[in-house]
Amino acid sequence: MWSRRDFLKSAGTLAASTALPAWAAAAASASKGSKTFALRPAAIELALAGVSGKTNFWAFNGNVPGPKLRLRRGDRVRISLENGLAVDTAVHWHGVRVPNAMDGVPHVTQDPLKPGERFEYEWVARDSGTFWYHPHQSSFEQVPRGLYGALIVEEEKPIAVDRDEVWVISDVKLDPDGRQVEDYGRVMDFGNEGRLGNRVLVNGQPGGILSVRSGERIRLRLINAASARLFKLNMAGHEMTVIAYDGQAVAPHPVEALYIGPGMRADIVLDCMHAAGASFAVADRHRRSLGDIGRIVYQEGKPVRNKPLRSSLILPGNGLPEPNLDKATDHYVLFQGGMRGAPVIGTVDGKPGKIHEMMEKHGLAWTMNYTAQHEHALMHEPLLRLRKGEHVVLHMMNETDYFHPMHLHGHFFRVVAVDGKKTRFREWRDTVLMGPRSSVDVALVADNPGEWMYHCHILDHAAGGMMGTVSIE
Ligand code: C2O
Ligand code: CU
Repeated sequence: MWSRRDFLKSAGTLAASTALPAWAAAAASASKGSKTFALRPAAIELALAGVSGKTNFWAFNGNVPGPKLRLRRGDRVRISLENGLAVDTAVHWHGVRVPNAMDGVPHVTQDPLKPGERFEYEWVARDSGTFWYHPHQSSFEQVPRGLYGALIVEEEKPIAVDRDEVWVISDVKLDPDGRQVEDYGRVMDFGNEGRLGNRVLVNGQPGGILSVRSGERIRLRLINAASARLFKLNMAGHEMTVIAYDGQAVAPHPVEALYIGPGMRADIVLDCMHAAGASFAVADRHRRSLGDIGRIVYQEGKPVRNKPLRSSLILPGNGLPEPNLDKATDHYVLFQGGMRGAPVIGTVDGKPGKIHEMMEKHGLAWTMNYTAQHEHALMHEPLLRLRKGEHVVLHMMNETDYFHPMHLHGHFFRVVAVDGKKTRFREWRDTVLMGPRSSVDVALVADNPGEWMYHCHILDHAAGGMMGTVSIE
């Protein structure tokens, strides 16, 4: 069994045995830190609260979620991945602006790791914020089996809060004996909402508890690591003040309900002003069928303070390159398909066909600009070709009856319009939720060269054809 001690030991060995290249040494001496981690995915059994027997998972370092990787902005990070699974894998740092070769996409940015193989990832944390990591190999299976973890990059000067907490929200599909139902990759799920679990997990356990003291101000980092489940979070008795989306600062604003699709994150601040002993539900308003996902529970004892803290909630920005809409080029992506809705025609490998034929023959159910792409290994042409430094507006049009959280690797974009209307916050994101039959316009500077994944983060949709690449030369 992989223990914390092994983890530290191997982290130590790695640091001692690997000489830093000159540029890394220079970065390290520029008063920024360097951090070393070791990750080993492997099959394990874990006990879930309220579930009889043990549940089979695949996990990083013996835990679901995997270890919380905490670093500071500017840190140079080395992560040694050792594949303890019986299948190939590779790990992606979701939202982190890494050099292309460190992006962890098998067959696109690196060779997948065979069982027992190792790979060293190394990059500099350019952005502070809330990120996460997960395999990009057969992610519709590897992620729901339990392979995901939080990656937190602290600001140089964080805002004042009493506590900084992380909720990694996911779900799991259990049979009556508490075993995971191993029905990953069904075409029925690819062409619909995706494969949904029947238990919601918060930090790997059913029923999340946010334990607070009266008067506390909490920064709660929410990460949706579910492979397909979209949440619309509501917290009874508390105002959620959003301070960041996908790790990037946004003008602080209260929301009553918070949509958070697979892959997406939100940092919220809660001023917990109720009395000791009180308790409030954290609910999902999108699909209520599984009940509350957690509770905010007030501990006994004296209040920390009687009035909410007055200090600023504005996070420092990361200085992302600002797209200039006047000189931006327009690119369009049309999304079609799915089992419900208008019948569509698309091409697979250059051959046209009806969507239900594509599903039967190829297991593909979605098209982007009329084509459905196979998984990484078989991918053909980039969907879009951009020049390095190009200012771009990407007009995404969703003609399907389904939600799609669309994710672009290696970049952040501003969400500038939804259904043709300017957005209020022009928020930066790496994953944007497109509603059914709606359109979203995003703007970015394509400044990170390489071939980058651009896909739906409902991982069954990605595997079902809603996956392509954007190449930047
Ligand atoms: Cu979170 Cu392409 O991935
Ligand atoms: Cu989708």
